[in-house]
Amino acid sequence: MKITSKELREKWLNFYESKGHINIGAVSLIGDGSTGVMFNVAGMQPLMPYLLGAPHPSGKKRLCNVQGCVRTVDIDAVGDAAHFTFFEMMGNWSLGDYFKKEKTAWTFELLTKVFGLDKDKICVTVFEGNESVPRDEETAGYLKALGIREENIYYKGKEDNWWELEGTTGTPCGPDNEWFYPSTDKKCSPNCDIDCKCGRYVEIGNDVYMQYKKTENGYIPLKNKNVDTGFGFERMLMFLNGITDGYMTDLFVDVIASLERAIGVKYGTDESITKSMRIIADHMRTTVMLIGDKNGILPSNIGAGYILRRIMRRAIRHANKIGLKTDNLLEVAKIYIEKVYNEAYPLLVEKESFILDEIKKEIEKFNKALELGLKEFDKVINGIERHKQFASKTGEIVKDEINGKSAFRLYDTFGFPIELTVELAGERGYSVDEEGFKQAFAEHQEKSKAVQQGEFKSGLSDTGEQTTKYHTATHLLNAALKKVLGENCHQMGSNITPERLRFDFPCDHKMTEEELQKTQDIVNEWIKAGYDVTHEEMPKTKAVEIGAEHQFIERYPDIVTVYSIGDVSKEICTGPHVKNASELGKFKIVKEESSSAGVRRIKAILE
Ligand code: ALA
Repeated sequence: MKITSKELREKWLNFYESKGHINIGAVSLIGDGSTGVMFNVAGMQPLMPYLLGAPHPSGKKRLCNVQGCVRTVDIDAVGDAAHFTFFEMMGNWSLGDYFKKEKTAWTFELLTKVFGLDKDKICVTVFEGNESVPRDEETAGYLKALGIREENIYYKGKEDNWWELEGTTGTPCGPDNEWFYPSTDKKCSPNCDIDCKCGRYVEIGNDVYMQYKKTENGYIPLKNKNVDTGFGFERMLMFLNGITDGYMTDLFVDVIASLERAIGVKYGTDESITKSMRIIADHMRTTVMLIGDKNGILPSNIGAGYILRRIMRRAIRHANKIGLKTDNLLEVAKIYIEKVYNEAYPLLVEKESFILDEIKKEIEKFNKALELGLKEFDKVINGIERHKQFASKTGEIVKDEINGKSAFRLYDTFGFPIELTVELAGERGYSVDEEGFKQAFAEHQEKSKAVQQGEFKSGLSDTGEQTTKYHTATHLLNAALKKVLGENCHQMGSNITPERLRFDFPCDHKMTEEELQKTQDIVNEWIKAGYDVTHEEMPKTKAVEIGAEHQFIERYPDIVTVYSIGDVSKEICTGPHVKNASELGKFKIVKEESSSAGVRRIKAILE
């Protein structure tokens, strides 16, 4: 290796520290919900408030770090040489401090002096301008002055040289300057340039000039002119080492070697096994990172937990396919924790036994389900074949397709993520009616919502004094459980009578005595603190933005009421509630039990 991952990390941080930046470290991979995305998808995401003008808690205006990100939109592409669900972004930022002149000079210095790239080969793209934002001649001018060849400077439109978080508003954005370098001097044709499909040019990173805020009515200039730089860590590591297969970087070689040993097949010799090895290597890395995160999550059937479950189950499935055992997968996790990320992510080492335990549990759970599910899957396929045979007599055309209802049954009863059904079907030459699956899924959701809402209504049918108290206590319990079990805990069901409250929430284990005591203590502390209960009407989008708890966001009207209890709880709710928490008396948990798989139920009373 010309440069190791540990060296690259250090070089990036040292360089920007030498330019007056402070290393702010990485934050949790799990999004805080403020942008509506579940995971951190870019290095700038946690810094959004500061890019919009709030002072950074460090008091500094020059920041840098290497930030983990999780993107699962391209999950189907994982298995090739360069797609990953977890990746790191090397970043640095100016919060209204330096701007284009310094930034172009530093990226240029880093590439030519620290990484030894030839300035005559560097290509760049800058924003060509449109009706609302001018052509970026300023950046182009600095680049030229630094010595980048004029013919290597390209002007491009919004599709290429504009960076924003897609699907959001109220977020910072702006034109960017992208940096390219040829991976070889050999042109595939005389016209081979950065746009050539042959892939000779690698985009190694970009400097975004975040000076606008995206609103519903267009782009408005920000008070601060910021810089947001992002260089993909894995991509840079591959590029600097002159390799095109990310799994051959030192982030993965030990894992790949352990897989080779376990099954006695060399990586790269069999296409399908190689693909499985990559999927396992990628997905297990993301698994380790998500479970071992500061705000770690566990596989479940909802939200981020479900995405994790899908990732894990896909890895387990490919492990089974190429003959790996549970221990082999645990070994992979260990390599990441102990060898690859031990220095950059010391928390993983601290949480090692917890992470391994959770992985083991999910493997066991899935393999059990898989056994039954595969039998069911065979039945579905046999059914189609029988239907076909029968139809051949009548002339009816039967597609080699698993219908939506069957796919949903495999999901609902046997825990088969839809991707798994699609993959299994594909291997046997069948397709899956994914639209039909979505429909069956939606119908099922409607039904369970109706049931839950029915419960909710009956819970509120008697709005007497006592039930009002229980209603407020439910909000406090919800908030306390988040403190004890983690931010991902939330209401899945609630029922209130004048005698007690009942509350369902996701949790993969029986709560310990200690956890229950702590939850109860927190609620009682808040009651004692005598927090006022206030409420405010606001647009639904704002309620979500400020982090108000909610259950079925799509079912609320556009304007909602948010109830707050001091600063400990915020929920979208129709009430009624007491005026002050001190009215509740003493809160006592009387029962904790299982409600359904992965869901626990607490019953509590007020004394
Ligand atoms: N925000 C920019 C990116 O993620 C730097 O590419």
